[in-house]
Amino acid sequence: MFPQCGLLAVVDPIPQFNPLVGGRVMARLWELNEGFFNSTRLNHYETLFTVGNGYLGTRGTFEEGHSGCIASTLIHGIYDHAPGMLVPELANAPNWLPVAITVDGTPFQLVTSTSDFMRPPQGVVIGYERTLDIKRGVLRREVLFRAATGAVVRLVFERFASLYDNHLLAQRVLIVAVDGSPTVRLHAFLDAEVMNSTGQHWTAPARVYSNGHGFGLAAETLQSHYRLGMASRLVGPGAITPLPHPTQPGAVAEFTLKQEEAATFDKLTAVFTSRDTDEPLDAAGAALSGAVSDGYDALLAAHEAEWAAYWRDSDIVIEGDDALQAAIRFTTYHILIAAPRHDERVSIGAKTLSGFGYKGHVFWDTELFVLPVFTFSQPKLARNLLMYRYHNLAGARHKAQANGYEGAMFPWESTDTGEETTPQWSDVQPDGSRIRIWTGDHEQHVSTDIAYAAHQYWRWTGDDAFFTQHGAELILDTAVFWGSRAEDKGSRYEISQQIGPDEYHENIDNSVFVNRMVVWHLQTALDVLGWLKQRAPADAARLESALDLSAARLAHWRDIITRMYIPFDTEQAIHVQFPGFFDMEYIPVQAYQPRITSVQAILGHPRTIQSQVIKQADVVALMALLDDQFDVPPGFDRRTVMLNNWNTYYPRTDHGSSLSPAMHALQAARMGMTGVAYDEFDHAAHIDLEDNKGNARDGIHAAACGGVWQAIVLGFCGLHISPAGELVTRPNLPVHWRRVSFTVHYRGERRTITVGHPEGSPAA
Ligand code: BGC
Repeated sequence: MFPQCGLLAVVDPIPQFNPLVGGRVMARLWELNEGFFNSTRLNHYETLFTVGNGYLGTRGTFEEGHSGCIASTLIHGIYDHAPGMLVPELANAPNWLPVAITVDGTPFQLVTSTSDFMRPPQGVVIGYERTLDIKRGVLRREVLFRAATGAVVRLVFERFASLYDNHLLAQRVLIVAVDGSPTVRLHAFLDAEVMNSTGQHWTAPARVYSNGHGFGLAAETLQSHYRLGMASRLVGPGAITPLPHPTQPGAVAEFTLKQEEAATFDKLTAVFTSRDTDEPLDAAGAALSGAVSDGYDALLAAHEAEWAAYWRDSDIVIEGDDALQAAIRFTTYHILIAAPRHDERVSIGAKTLSGFGYKGHVFWDTELFVLPVFTFSQPKLARNLLMYRYHNLAGARHKAQANGYEGAMFPWESTDTGEETTPQWSDVQPDGSRIRIWTGDHEQHVSTDIAYAAHQYWRWTGDDAFFTQHGAELILDTAVFWGSRAEDKGSRYEISQQIGPDEYHENIDNSVFVNRMVVWHLQTALDVLGWLKQRAPADAARLESALDLSAARLAHWRDIITRMYIPFDTEQAIHVQFPGFFDMEYIPVQAYQPRITSVQAILGHPRTIQSQVIKQADVVALMALLDDQFDVPPGFDRRTVMLNNWNTYYPRTDHGSSLSPAMHALQAARMGMTGVAYDEFDHAAHIDLEDNKGNARDGIHAAACGGVWQAIVLGFCGLHISPAGELVTRPNLPVHWRRVSFTVHYRGERRTITVGHPEGSPAA
């Protein structure tokens, strides 16, 4: 009855196989491999093995679940601010993964804790391998399982979230009788009993059905009233019967396999929300019918073709460093699966769609760390992300107004409404207290970061249509905000009560990062308006009138540019992160090596914020962003000041944020300090793989993933636009890298660039 297939050799149960002591994942050139089951890292690996398609992300939770698992499917834009919660968050969608299998009555399950050993009847897993095929976006797990009766089956689970049709999710389960003639029960279902770590976001399913091979459900979020429809079908040989359930509708197949016989089942699922259509469940049902008639193999082929195109544009090939080649593919995979492909009203959260960290909120991480990767390699995706901000200008204008300013002041944390969604208080601390979070009030540089990303996109793509209609407005209206925000103190302009990238120092006056970037912003706004007047006068007139870009306002901007206070220590020839910084306690951060936690965690919050310990690149970020435009006061040598800045701030930096190492790598590489650049790059590229921030269970660090891509292209390869408008490289490759190749889109042209060591260098 069932098709034959290749069999694993029947192995003796491996006596030393101890499921509670596992190995570590290995990043290989095109895959992430877990060769030995590791029960101690389950939540970390759930994050790493996430699949996604820019519409949703699903963690690598097992089909059969396990105790303590964090099963989650997060769909872009489906936020909910449920009663009692501090802020809105992405609502964990119903789980499409469950497939429960019993073999001769023994439930198939991995032993994940010692208490699992107590559960009768007992089965034993005697072989295990999990692989994420990064090239094709397919997750596969293969297990040898011996039931209590002694029968051994080989189980192969495969899943992918279709990149071809973002609403389709596919699973395949292969069951092979390796030893004995087991009776197998396979129960596939959808699970609406899902929560976030903070609590419940969905009503009980409004509709639920199980009929024939099909089953589905409709649910609605509690506060935002997004509706979701999910429809599945189990496709396989033999009889399949519906198994109705009020929250877990499903279908069951029961069969007996002769020794060496195999059975293959496909579970196909479609999901829509009311963000896509008025009738999500109907749409899911229709999409599912199409998917079932195409079949798993055709769906897979279409999905693979999309992935091939994705990689053609975004892959970086490093010759001479397989370990980092593997790591950079892994990080690129994760930003590719998070990038919205067909939706310009959503953006990428700080933890992608792979975990509950930061509640799915969007930060500056997107514009400065992730979005540029797409500006260079897949401009269409970058445009989608910029449009998210454009569509949310109303929220930014509202925030400015509510704070007594003009123009558009973007929220530090953003969701679907575009309103400020930063929580004002932290979660409860071990001592029962909550800490006031000031970033939503005072971390205002995000507006400039967005302007920077819009301008960078325009410079690289030459997409004038986008710029005249949308991009210029983003830059100009945020400039209006800063014009109203800068404080005229008589002899100079100042900006008080800020949080720069270094968040250990809150509510400070005259952050050099903020003040200097505001100057950049206002100058860029003036240049943009000048360009519009020449090249798109109707758009210039429209914006002048809509944003009130009067001559007086522009004169005010010029005045701010000329008289802005840029803190600089002429004796040390350095930029001063903010006045008073050096009056605080000096702590030799480097003396705390080796460490796996932040210096802040070691010293405690109160002492750290009264010290010179810096959370992340701040002055260094300023140098990286301004690049050739980074300037120094008259009479000072630019290169000397840059080195002084580096030598001052780098040794004081904690890297308490995952954003820090990649930014340092980029800047160090540009400055020719390849050794330190490589170390920081290596650190950044392994933040999730090695869990070296200790919180990878909460989701992938999107900014680190984007940051390492940029560190290679802009840092080690030194790609930039010359004053003549040519694309040029200024390589500073690590000595053991032979060559690096990547693709960039420059002003409508797709170019493949290969960089080696400069002629005459010892490594050439
Ligand atoms: C960093 C911020 C970042 C946020 C989200 C914080 O720890 O300091 O710069 O935006 O995490 O990733």
